[in-house]
Amino acid sequence: MIVDLTDEQARAALPLKWGAVEPGVVPAWVAEMDYALAPPVVAALTDAVRRGTAGYPPFGDGGVGATFAGFAQRHWGWSPPDDASVVVGDVIAGIRLVLEVLCPPGPVVVPLPCYPPFRDVVAIAGREMVAVELDPDATDAALDLAAIEDAFRAGARTLLLCNPHNPLGRVPRRAELEALAALARRYDARVVADEIHGPLVLPGLQRTNGPVFTPYLSVDERGILVTSPSKTFNTAGLHTAQVVVLDPAEQARLRGVPLPQNHAYSPLGMIAAVASWRDCDDWHAALVRRLDEQRALLADLLAAHLPEARMRPLEATYLAWLDLRAYGHDDPAAAGLEHGVRVAPGADYQPGLAGHARLNLATSPERLETIVGRLAKALTG
Ligand SMILES: Cc1ncc(COP(=O)(O)O)c(C=O)c1O
Repeated sequence: MIVDLTDEQARAALPLKWGAVEPGVVPAWVAEMDYALAPPVVAALTDAVRRGTAGYPPFGDGGVGATFAGFAQRHWGWSPPDDASVVVGDVIAGIRLVLEVLCPPGPVVVPLPCYPPFRDVVAIAGREMVAVELDPDATDAALDLAAIEDAFRAGARTLLLCNPHNPLGRVPRRAELEALAALARRYDARVVADEIHGPLVLPGLQRTNGPVFTPYLSVDERGILVTSPSKTFNTAGLHTAQVVVLDPAEQARLRGVPLPQNHAYSPLGMIAAVASWRDCDDWHAALVRRLDEQRALLADLLAAHLPEARMRPLEATYLAWLDLRAYGHDDPAAAGLEHGVRVAPGADYQPGLAGHARLNLATSPERLETIVGRLAKALTG
């Protein structure tokens, strides 16, 4: 059910991922997958294009909220009310919107390493950022609740949570999120939960009792959820995401912002979102199986070709976090590029961090072999 794109097809489908590398270089950097779209998404988009649906998006959410609630209920046993979603252009635009409209004044806590635009969006919103470091090499890398409390005590009133975490691939545990929610309540702080990788929790590494995804709003009704089907269903270019808040007065504030503050979502993206959340459970299950196989293959390839590499336990996402310090390169990604593979430098996620890289494994088994083979040649050859 998961169809691998050929190089030529991938270059056409993913102009950023494949277009930003020279011909012959295998891209394993930005978070997009080298797989064909889910058939129900293709069908919905094709029908919409045939109908000429290229006008402005409608008022309202076009069914995105109700179909997301259905997905959340089926997969996580939790769901927000159908009318709790406000459509936005993308996750980062949603974070910017809630920083501008809902979050109390004061610095914003960002656990590091982080998805790089987190740092940019805090600055663009005119906020000071307080970094709280996760240990990128710890087996667990749990949130540092004591450091977060220090930041709240010093005046921060917002925290950006990445649940599950990019780039560490970790799934925060329910108890940890409950403790964070208690802290937020105590200091009257808001947690903005980016859960774009929520549907990408992989089977437990021991095949039993793996971590499960905890929607942050299920432990904190004052939490602010920002999500999108775009990472799971490979539709980032369609520009549709959603902010979910449970307080109707806050929903009304978000819906009432002037047009230029929230207008960059597309009717095609909304149609794709509805199809993704509603009609793609079988495809999604096949995707998770494929990513699980790719994860196992990556572990085998690293053991064979880069035995000194340490891969963090990849609990979620298709982005493996590699500690390659044993090979003595400050920037293993730069070395890889010289040998025909592009992975993402660890320092993008934590400025100053040497010897790490993030590798996107959402490709074919053959390409993954090439990626690791070339990286090995770059670091050991
Ligand atoms: C944690 C996280 N948030 C947001 C995004 C980007 O989402 P969007 O394109 O909807 O802004 C990504 C993309 O990889 C991501 O990993």
